[in-house]
Amino acid sequence: MAACVAAHTLEARDLVVRYGGVSALQGVSLGVASGEVVGLIGPNGAGKTSFLNAVSGIAALSDGSVMLDGRAIGGLRADRIARSGVVRTYQNVRLFPTLTIEQNVRAGSFAAGRAFGPDGLARVLEQTGLADVAPSAQAGRLPYGIARRVEIARALAGAPSMLLLDEPAAGLNPAESARLGRLVRSIASSGIGILLVEHDMQLVGDVCDRVAVLNFGTVIARGTPAEARRDPAVIEAYLGSAR
Ligand SMILES: Nc1ncnc2c1ncn2[C@@H]1O[C@H](COP(=O)(O)OP(=O)(O)O)[C@@H](O)[C@H]1O
Ligand SMILES: [Mg+2]
Repeated sequence: MAACVAAHTLEARDLVVRYGGVSALQGVSLGVASGEVVGLIGPNGAGKTSFLNAVSGIAALSDGSVMLDGRAIGGLRADRIARSGVVRTYQNVRLFPTLTIEQNVRAGSFAAGRAFGPDGLARVLEQTGLADVAPSAQAGRLPYGIARRVEIARALAGAPSMLLLDEPAAGLNPAESARLGRLVRSIASSGIGILLVEHDMQLVGDVCDRVAVLNFGTVIARGTPAEARRDPAVIEAYLGSAR
């Protein structure tokens, strides 16, 4: 991966998402720069996926703006946003189950309108620790931990400047989760900005430069993972959700 990558910034300001009468996001602002890993955490139903949906064009923005390198991308169609360089993965694995690993990864480059050179596939598979897995393996038959990495490989095939990950460690065992953490850091060190929605606080503490904590569609705390973890409002939000 080239060491010299242009610096990019993704800036979401005052995002509001409403589903009928439900306000999933009530004015959330968050930015990510190249090479950074920013965590978006909070209890179930806090609005984390809604934020990723709004930024990636899957959910309609009721209000607010999203800027990539100072250009407005908020409200564009999802495919246009992916082509602009903002690519995401989903909370539930969404590979094409009857296609091979290779076909799934190639679909990622196609979806983002990127040319995929002859060594592109090998490079992405190598980067995501999939070099030992047959590219002809059918995606629907893969062990879960590998399927999750194929999802990230597919996203990287779109040559993103910003990568949005929705709970990539969900369902992984501690060893797989630690391995994912190393992958996330290596992607960031290649110059990609990462917005990581995650429940696994060990992973968040290991990989995030800073975090924002959502609760009921509002940011209740910002800071380093350690600062967020000892913030009384954050502790109350997590305890409240467990009651
Ligand atoms: N498509 C939808 N239609 C209606 N309500 C939704 C939809 N998606 C999410 N919500 C609601 O929005 C709130 C935030 O959900 P979500 O963004 O999925 O939270 P999180 O990812 O933090 O668990 C929840 O109250 C949820 O029920
Ligand atoms: Mg979610």
